[in-house]
Amino acid sequence: MTSKDNSRMETLEEYIIQNQNRFPGATGELSQLLRDIGLASKIISREVNKAGITNILGFDGSTNIHGESVKKLDLFADQQLISALNRSLITCMVISEENDGIVKLSSKGGKYIVYLDPLDGSSNIDVNVSIGSIFSVYMREARYDATVREQDALQPGVRQVAAGYVLYGSSTILAYTTGLGVSVFTLDPSIGEFILSDRKIKIPDHGPIYSINEGSYNSWDMGLKKYIKYCQEEDPDTNRPYSARYIGSMVADIHRTLIKGGIFIYPHSKKYPSGKLRLMYECNPLSFIIEQAGGMATDGHKRIMELEPEAIHQQTPIYIGSKKNVQKVMDFLNEYSTVNV
Ligand code: AHG
Ligand code: MN
Ligand code: MN
Repeated sequence: MTSKDNSRMETLEEYIIQNQNRFPGATGELSQLLRDIGLASKIISREVNKAGITNILGFDGSTNIHGESVKKLDLFADQQLISALNRSLITCMVISEENDGIVKLSSKGGKYIVYLDPLDGSSNIDVNVSIGSIFSVYMREARYDATVREQDALQPGVRQVAAGYVLYGSSTILAYTTGLGVSVFTLDPSIGEFILSDRKIKIPDHGPIYSINEGSYNSWDMGLKKYIKYCQEEDPDTNRPYSARYIGSMVADIHRTLIKGGIFIYPHSKKYPSGKLRLMYECNPLSFIIEQAGGMATDGHKRIMELEPEAIHQQTPIYIGSKKNVQKVMDFLNEYSTVNV
């Protein structure tokens, strides 16, 4: 039976348990963690859908560690995800965009460390445009040591044991990987269940779409300027000009890239000398998903998932998407690397 066969729908819960059964030694803890995230995201999805009619929409007045305005839904999503992870006692600490330091959970002996961007694209909340939640899971190295330290969380993306995102769009989608391909589920609101819609999704090798905030054009490196001009040139043989699409919620831009192919870029610029997006809870998890679907993610030179993190909230430039698109932009970056802007 395939996931397209409507005679038997497979829920997220069933799928997770079935996968766990394939590994005789599995303890079921990672499965539980994924189920916790699934449950929290259903609650967040419900609030996102009714945000306009409740008092939850809008600024709460505070700022997060990046000096950005925090909206109430960011905090709601943060609380839901953290308390779901806390309940099952298998996660020892959470690092979240909305919390300056590490958040120690009740289970000091828990073997997992979870990074969260509880609500990505929050500037889009007010205008009813897609937003999402991102998660990234690591094993704790010194797991029998009861002291939970930030240092334990500074692991490169290649060590992720699971990662994924939930997209609150025209429908709510959950995509995750544990390193065996990417599975995608769609929330059926009538029964409140995530239903399997794709079990090994593949990103096209190449796509005629580029996604970047072009407002920063003047401060890009020469190689990037040349690449974007290349995307805009007319050449019917190579399907150019490409289309430009930029939602402003990384999750939504990456989900489109996963389905349709193309490239998403957030480079370094004068305003963001190290890039804007966060390595540990935006770039690594979405790179894991895209790589597992057959795509590629770099910082312009190096593979994102091999970057050695120095700080939990560190930022990085990112070039992510279809392999051929990413390779092409890297060729441009290399060719013009010595040319000043
Ligand atoms: P967040 O809402 O979690 O702070 O993330 C916003 C991010 C990302 O989702 C998006 O791709 C990017 O900011 C958009 O930035 P610009 O407005 O600078 O293009
Ligand atoms: Mn974000
Ligand atoms: Mn966020």
